[in-house]
Amino acid sequence: MSNFNEETVTSVHHWTDNLFSFTCTRDPGLRFLNGQFTMIGLRVDGKPLLRAYSMASANYEEELQFFSIKVQNGPLTSRLQHLKVGDKILVGRKPTGTLVQDSLLPGKRLYLLSTGTGLAPFLSVVKDPEAYDRFEKVILIHGTRTVAELAYDEYLTKTLPDDEILGEEVKAKLVYYPTVTREPFRNQGRITDLITSGKLFADLGMPVMSPEEDRLMLCGSPAMLKDVVELLESRGFTEGSQSAPGHYVIEKAFVER
Ligand code: A2P
Repeated sequence: MSNFNEETVTSVHHWTDNLFSFTCTRDPGLRFLNGQFTMIGLRVDGKPLLRAYSMASANYEEELQFFSIKVQNGPLTSRLQHLKVGDKILVGRKPTGTLVQDSLLPGKRLYLLSTGTGLAPFLSVVKDPEAYDRFEKVILIHGTRTVAELAYDEYLTKTLPDDEILGEEVKAKLVYYPTVTREPFRNQGRITDLITSGKLFADLGMPVMSPEEDRLMLCGSPAMLKDVVELLESRGFTEGSQSAPGHYVIEKAFVER
């Protein structure tokens, strides 16, 4: 049996010159945990060209959704950015990944820290009812260079809180904190600086994060992950895995494409 399914693109949305999202059909046999990724791609010269992509859709949704950058000379994204409704796309049959709730110890608050397309897996997590069962607050932080790159802000502030099934939980528990570094915006600065200065917690009206109460999932560039992990380790947080749950889990946003 092949390692991937052939799916059909059902919608495409371009956020900026560098960012787009698309949805496609989903094989009913494809199972995944919210927060996981799989290999997706195209057939190029008859051969599959695949890269890792986090599912931005939740595991109970009928279609799959992906959030991607466009790299002009990237082997895959230079092609993927031209996707049209009706095009075929390859989707790996074996999702995997570390951003899963079972790798975290119980806690009060779940912080989802992302930069750029690192937001993708958290779009799946914030639609997961289990996140709201396990935590009193789910705090989604998205850092970008520009305001236009705050993709999904309207979805997170308007659409999701009005969702028929999840809306009440989302209104009561989900906190969305976008922050921008290279333009004026109501929240400004790198996630690391916002944590170090304590401004993040002051703005949120939450206690400064601690290993006793807070759990984190991180997804962003290697530099962002390195800096946030250093900061967390210096405050006594330890990384979790499925065999040994901890205070935080990390995954790099997949950008070499
Ligand atoms: P900055 O504009 O100060 O570089 P990118 O598009 O390069 O992936 O960046 C996305 C966001 O992540 C930007 O706001 C960027 O801030 C921020 N960022 C980049 N490196 C780090 C880091 N080491 N720690 C925290 N945030 C970072």
